[in-house]
Amino acid sequence: MKGLFITLEGGDGAGKSTQIRNIERFFAEKGLIVVHTREPGGTPISEKLRDILLDNHNSEMSPVTEMMIYAASRAQNVRENIIPALERGEVVICDRFVDSSVAYQAYGRGLGDMVSEVNKYATGGLSPDITFWLDIDPQAGRARAAKVGELDRLETEEMEFHYRVYEGYRKIAEGDPERVRRIDASESVDAIRDHIYECLEELCRSKGI
Ligand code: TMP
Repeated sequence: MKGLFITLEGGDGAGKSTQIRNIERFFAEKGLIVVHTREPGGTPISEKLRDILLDNHNSEMSPVTEMMIYAASRAQNVRENIIPALERGEVVICDRFVDSSVAYQAYGRGLGDMVSEVNKYATGGLSPDITFWLDIDPQAGRARAAKVGELDRLETEEMEFHYRVYEGYRKIAEGDPERVRRIDASESVDAIRDHIYECLEELCRSKGI
């Protein structure tokens, strides 16, 4: 596929939204068309699934149900949004992707290898060109997220859950260092942007952009 597929990952309150705007600016300045999407969500069907997933009233949802709804949302976003944009040669920036399911459902919920397996079908094997993991301690992230608004179903999970998710991200980054770039999210917004821009310059050079 001609385009570039970039994903951002990290616990709640890591500052992904700010850096997504910076990444959009980086590619817009190169004259490229940028598509910004998010998971769960990104298409009308996927946004409905997002509402189900994050609704605090759905406390009885089983981990397998949860994992499959995340995968269903992704399957739709990949086919309706992401692949067509990549085929047009555009840059797709996705706020969370399969790594979130591995961190939250495989590690956080303890579902293990089933999660990667199901997501192979959901994505049809599509993988990001580069992933930025904004690494923030779960306790610090929760404090920041709480300042922004009401907590959703996942955010209200106990701290042990968020530490298992964190451990999941650490293992994902360790296992795939070429794709997953760890960014220290406790640094200043400008320092984080500079680090991300360095990685993007390197990616563009390798792709001849
Ligand atoms: P967001 O608020 O950052 O958009 O993410 C919604 C929540 O869903 C967040 O707590 C992380 C969680 N999540 C999963 O548990 N699995 C997934 O596959 C994705 C994409 C998100």
